Amino acid sequence: MNIRSKLPEVGTTIFTQMSALAGEHGAINLSQGFPDYPCDPALISALAEAAAAGHNQYAPMTGLPALREAIAAKLESQHGQSFDPASEITITAGATQALFTSIAAILHAGDEALVLDPSYDSYAPAIHAQGAHAIRIRLPAPDFRPDWALIDQHVTSRTRLILINNPNNPATTNLPRADLDALADLAERHDLLVLADEVYEHLVFDGQTHRSVLAHPRLRSRAMAVYSFGKTFHATGWKIGYCVAPPALSAEFRKIHQFLVFAVNSPAQHALARYLQDSQSWRALAGFFQPRRDLLAAGLQEAGFKLIPSAGTYFQLADYSAIRPDLTDLEFARWLTIEHKVASIPLSPFSEQGSSERLVRFCFAKQESTLATAIGNLQALR
Ligand SMILES: Cc1ncc(COP(=O)(O)O)c(C=O)c1O
Repeated sequence: MNIRSKLPEVGTTIFTQMSALAGEHGAINLSQGFPDYPCDPALISALAEAAAAGHNQYAPMTGLPALREAIAAKLESQHGQSFDPASEITITAGATQALFTSIAAILHAGDEALVLDPSYDSYAPAIHAQGAHAIRIRLPAPDFRPDWALIDQHVTSRTRLILINNPNNPATTNLPRADLDALADLAERHDLLVLADEVYEHLVFDGQTHRSVLAHPRLRSRAMAVYSFGKTFHATGWKIGYCVAPPALSAEFRKIHQFLVFAVNSPAQHALARYLQDSQSWRALAGFFQPRRDLLAAGLQEAGFKLIPSAGTYFQLADYSAIRPDLTDLEFARWLTIEHKVASIPLSPFSEQGSSERLVRFCFAKQESTLATAIGNLQALR
């Protein structure tokens, strides 16, 4: 049988590879981005109660109205603006589906979408699966600042979309207002749509503010913004998220969503609706994660890593050039997992061209005891 792959460049992701290697060698797994502690028991009770109450059949295609209303209330409290739950908010099976659906709704074969590297691994394959082209522009370490003049040079008559991820995984940056203004200038100049992955919106540190495209006066009308309850409520296995977009864009989004998943897990939507009505636990997220970031950062520094300050997300980037400058980042991540029992993620797979920087990414969404064990293992590096 002759199968013509639509994604010939895609293999097993680095996340799967590093998690498998961590398992094989009994290493502390700080590679993949998921918590190793339980989510709020109130959320689990709400899920059990929703299932027991019989909410086990298909939810409405666009999402449970109570959940969309609770999200609209949350957005209003965050951004001081109203969002119509009926026409602007769609519940999805995680942010990954929201990203794929947005891309499928917007891009035609032959179109181009701008992607800023290092970038989250689902963006480029989702673009390629539409027969469109990901035009990847590398932002250099250590600050990964977008060079808007350079980005502008990559726009052609076929460019339809620019993707941004803010706060950024893996760069751990949080864009200042000036960058959102520059993004709005670019999008208006070339009539581009903006797909904003804001799954780490609440994970910004040191008193900084996250600036959403939804709160920007010129971006909201041309942006699709994507969120993940998995990240916000320490429940990545639930795979529930949502997309916020103006009515005309949401209508196109829903045409794809309808035939990709139709409707999202019903009891989990009931549970999240109730939880969002009762709790504002998301307001405490930065305070929850910042001490973990600081704990891991101190341990990495002591072990000889040079750190790139993490302004957001639950990741810390570390330069290992003072430890094993002879190794590429892939070699170093494997070596550290096997020899020192701590798994990380090398940075080069996040860029089309790879990278010669000596950087690996560690996840600090872990119990303090897990982080302490990892730090203990790393002290042998000194
Ligand atoms: C930047 C970014 N976007 C999207 C996702 C996926 O979110 P979800 O698990 O809700 O699909 C992740 C998960 O790690 C992520 O880091």
